[in-house]
Order: sequence, then structure tokens, then C-alpha cells
Amino acid sequence: MAQEYRYLQLEAWLLQCLKEQRWRPGERLPSIRSLCREHGVSKATAQHALQRLEAQGLVEARPKAGHFVSQQIPRAQPPLSRTRIEAPRPVTVSDLLLDIMRRSAAFDILPESHSGELPPGIVALNRSIGRSLRRQKGEDYQYYDEPAGDGGLREQLALHLSRRGLQVGPEHLCITSGCQHALFLALMACCKRGDVVAVESPGFYGVMQLIEQLELRVVEVPASSETGMDIDALEEVLRRWQVRACIVSPAFATPGGALMGDSSKRRLLALAEQYDLAVIEDDIYADTAFGAVPDPLKALDTEDRVILCSSFSKCLSRDLRLGWISGGRWHARILHLKLMTQLASSRFLQRGVAEFMADGGLTAHLRRLRIELRERRDHLLALLQAWPGEVRVSAPQGGLAVWVELADTVDTLAIYPEALSAGVVITPGPLFSVSGKFKNCLRLSFAHAWTNAREAALKQLPELLYQPIQSCNFRQSPP
Ligand SMILES: Cc1ncc(COP(=O)(O)O)c(C=O)c1O
Repeated sequence: MAQEYRYLQLEAWLLQCLKEQRWRPGERLPSIRSLCREHGVSKATAQHALQRLEAQGLVEARPKAGHFVSQQIPRAQPPLSRTRIEAPRPVTVSDLLLDIMRRSAAFDILPESHSGELPPGIVALNRSIGRSLRRQKGEDYQYYDEPAGDGGLREQLALHLSRRGLQVGPEHLCITSGCQHALFLALMACCKRGDVVAVESPGFYGVMQLIEQLELRVVEVPASSETGMDIDALEEVLRRWQVRACIVSPAFATPGGALMGDSSKRRLLALAEQYDLAVIEDDIYADTAFGAVPDPLKALDTEDRVILCSSFSKCLSRDLRLGWISGGRWHARILHLKLMTQLASSRFLQRGVAEFMADGGLTAHLRRLRIELRERRDHLLALLQAWPGEVRVSAPQGGLAVWVELADTVDTLAIYPEALSAGVVITPGPLFSVSGKFKNCLRLSFAHAWTNAREAALKQLPELLYQPIQSCNFRQSPP
């Protein structure tokens, strides 16, 4: 496809000539005017092709004299790290988990099969960002944006959140580099080394990694894949240990897509008050809701002790690396930490996204996405009906994945490497706990369209999981 561009065609022709030594080192290349005439291209195209050769060190531009073949042709560049061959090394469990984390972040069982077609929402988003880039004015590129982020984007986010019952002004929001960054800032702001943090179990592995890096301690609170964190269990934990913060994902928690009810949310906030906890709310999946988007926990927070963290990664684009945080009583410290960890976010990117939101692009995109996700979830549940053996599957009303519990004899971590060598990425249960639990579980995603190749990959899994294959006993949790 890239070869359609005329400057690339001309560059390829020039490269071929250089390879054939049509002109020797130090000799002058044809002038721009003659290249234009002979190849039927514009001056800008000819200049572009020559500039690319110059960037490769193959030609030199001499003012008012033209382009000359370099005296010294540079040696071939070493391949990019993507293709570098690494020295053999033993794989430890933590290396394995890091590998799973990296691959599973894309939520794709078969990463090789993506079609490359852009949904209309992303086309519109890219256009907005392109416009914003073209409008970049004066010396913008020489300055950092303010640490809190672009005011226009924060206004749009405040408006977006107000539709879910949360009234926060733009001044209460700070733009981050994704939700992972927001969670990092939240933990740094309210905890110090050695503090105990309560997390859902199973829960988001990225949080466990942050806790490890910040030298905090973790206590796992059981969570169901229907209703989320068990508040009775949390209460018991709080009675027994001094806990500094609690991280919860009330809307469609990973891995199972649990939705926490209002009464649990209220109890959680009451406990937070009683035990003086910071509550870190990971709200990243809320906008994927198939039905009404649930109000955030923070909408019920009268004490400013909920730190809301989210991003566009699950509902729009992971590649934006844009998220936000509303830090409650810790907000000033969070702004300081944002400055220290990122200085600022890209201004043109934020403005492009703000314009996309103001144009109604996000609303239209979410409308389509929710329908698609629901269909993909249904299809996944139907495919899982054909799995043999004991299978228990969550039936989330939002999010991007289901949680699958298999017979106790199954070891999903053990089959990870084998599945990977067949090109299939599974997300084994032990990734969602720090204590190696959930060995017989796995997270399966419906984030991507069901192609024949993805279906075949899914169908192939039971063979790996069960040896010998057992008879079908599929049970689905109530919605
Ligand atoms: C629950 C949860 N929180 C946060 C993140 C990190 O999101 P981001 O890509 O915005 O950093 C993820 C990504 O997988 C996630 O699943």
C-alpha cells in the first residue's frame, strides 16, 4: 500500500540506481527539475524522495549545487529490537507472568488475525486529531501544556461524567497517560512504603504490579464475577489489619465483568469512613455498558475520599494513552505527582479528542460499540456452550471479557506456552492474584470481532485444557 505514494516510487527508483552505481560516490544526482520532468512528479514529491535518501545518509544536499551521492555509504543498521534475537535465558514464573501481561493487554486471543479495518468512530477521531495537529499554532511545540491537562478536554470529561451523576468541575480533573498512570498517581498520593492496600481477588494484575513497585503490601479480598468485591470480607479484613487504601472496579471489573450494586457501594463508603480509607475507583470499563451506564462510586462520595481513575483505552483507543483522574482530597498532591512523572500531556492530542467529544463523536462511537460488544459477548457464550467438561462462565453486562472456571484438575498457566506456540494468547487465572490462585480459571475476551480464525483458535483450546476430554457440563452464571 505504501508503494502507492509517488515519493516512495521515486525513492525506490533512486535507490535501485544507487545500488547499480549509476552515479558514483561524490557524483551529482539528476536535478530536481529533471526528476520532475522524467518521472512526471511535482517538485515537492521529488524533494520528499531526495530528503528521505538524505535521512538514510545515502545522498548529501549541497546548497545551490544539488544532491550528491554520499562519499561514505553507511553500514546497514542493526535490526530494530522488535526483530532482535535475544540470548537464551531461563524463564521464571514472574517472567512468564510479565509475558502474559504484555500480550493479554490487547485482549486478543489471536493477535495475528486482526483485519486492520478502522471503525467509523476511530476514523472520525483520527480526523479530529489530524485537524488539531494542523492547527497547532506559533510556538506551541516549544512549550509544555499545564500539568492538569487541556482545559477543553477536562471540560468535555466533566460533562461526560455529569451524565452519570458525578458533578466534578474541570478543575477537579487531571489528564494522565492512561488509567495505569492514573492508578499509579493515586497509589503514590495516598500511600507510603509498607502500607496495606486491599484489592479484589481475582483482580486487575496491573494494580498488583504497581503495588509491588511502590513496595506496598496487598491483601486480597474475594470478589464474585457477578457483584464484585465481597463487602463482608472487606469488613473482616479492615477489622484485622490496618489498611490504607482499597482499589475497586465497581463497573464491570476485570476479569469477569462484575457490577457492584448500590447497597454494596454505600457500605463500602461507610467502611471507608469508619476505617479512614482512601478508595481508588478504577472506572475504565464503565462506558462499555451494554445497557445504562452505571453511576460511578464517586458520585456517592460525600467525603472526597474516592479517587476516580479511568481512560479511553477500553471504550475508544488504547493507543491514545490518555486517561484522567479526579483525586478528591488528594488532588493537589496528584497534580504535583503528574508534573513529576510526566511533566505534561500532548496538547494537540488532547485538543483533537476534546473536539471529537464536542462533535458528538464519542457518543456515536459508544452507541455502536455497545451493540457490537453485546453481540460479541453473546457469540462467545454460545461458542463456550460447546466446550467439554465442567465450565462456569460469567455473563457480564459490560466490559470486554468473561471469566471461565473449569474443573479443578485444569491448569491454565501450564498450557499457556503450548497455546502460545499455536499463536493463541490465553489469559490464565493466576495472573489475577498475587497468591497463585485461580489455576483452573481463565479470562476470555470478546473485545475483538469473531473471525473464523478467532473461532478456530477458541475451539482448539479445550483440547489443550482437557486431557482426556470430558463430557459437557456448561453452566452460565445468571446475568
Ligand atoms: C481494570 C484496568 N485498569 C486499568 C488498565 C490500564 O489502562 P490504560 O491502558 O488506560 O493504562 C487496564 C488495562 O488493561 C485494566 O484492565
